[in-house]
Amino acid sequence: MAKFSDIKGFVFDLDGVITDTSIFHSQAWHQVADKVGSPWSKKLEDGLKGISRMDSLEMILQAGNVQNKYTDEQKVQLATEKNDNYLKLVNKMTPANILPGIKDFLDSLKANGYLISLASASKNAPTVLSKLQLTDYFPKVVDPASLKKGKPDPEIYTKGAEMLNLDPSQCIGVEDAAAGIQAINGAGETSVGIGDKNILKEADVLFANTSEMTLDNIKKQMK
Ligand code: BG6
Ligand code: MG
Repeated sequence: MAKFSDIKGFVFDLDGVITDTSIFHSQAWHQVADKVGSPWSKKLEDGLKGISRMDSLEMILQAGNVQNKYTDEQKVQLATEKNDNYLKLVNKMTPANILPGIKDFLDSLKANGYLISLASASKNAPTVLSKLQLTDYFPKVVDPASLKKGKPDPEIYTKGAEMLNLDPSQCIGVEDAAAGIQAINGAGETSVGIGDKNILKEADVLFANTSEMTLDNIKKQMK
């Protein structure tokens, strides 16, 4: 693990870290699972976190062993329906959907001169940031459409550091998903996990929830 004093930038996941949209993604995917007859489980729900839209659909179809029942066109249709339902939920969002402590944490990063970028797999990230009125905190956003591979591949976190002109070793990545922690670690950044330690086993630094994430608390766990 890097030393805290080496850290110059933070690369953030969005869904489940900045805001509670991971619940909305789950709700919308659950509807798709019901429609195609795939069993919905906590394990599937957790495994979908951080995973791109089409890869998520593939995982849901595989859970019901119905991946060969749909043409590519029908798969795109299912993913579009999911996104339309997801956007209905997103459209009701306000800054009240920012997770506890996140605004203060972002302010403390700015006040202390840390650089900030966003490494979300979501093509809806700019819309969500705008609903939360957080767009100005994230001048650098990795475009998930530009990626060769999604999380758990490190590419998105490598790009998040590059956008800040920092070496990965100078960056902390923040994630709520196992696939995301794997991506951060693979990119050579220090990983901060938010959530269940049984799921985020590989995180360098772990907090049960966002309100515990402060610069001081990160420093304590990094030594
Ligand atoms: C990730 C979410 O941030 O974005 C996943 O954790 C989601 O649940 C992925 O599937 C892609 O999002 P979108 O908005 O492009 O469908
Ligand atoms: Mg997430």
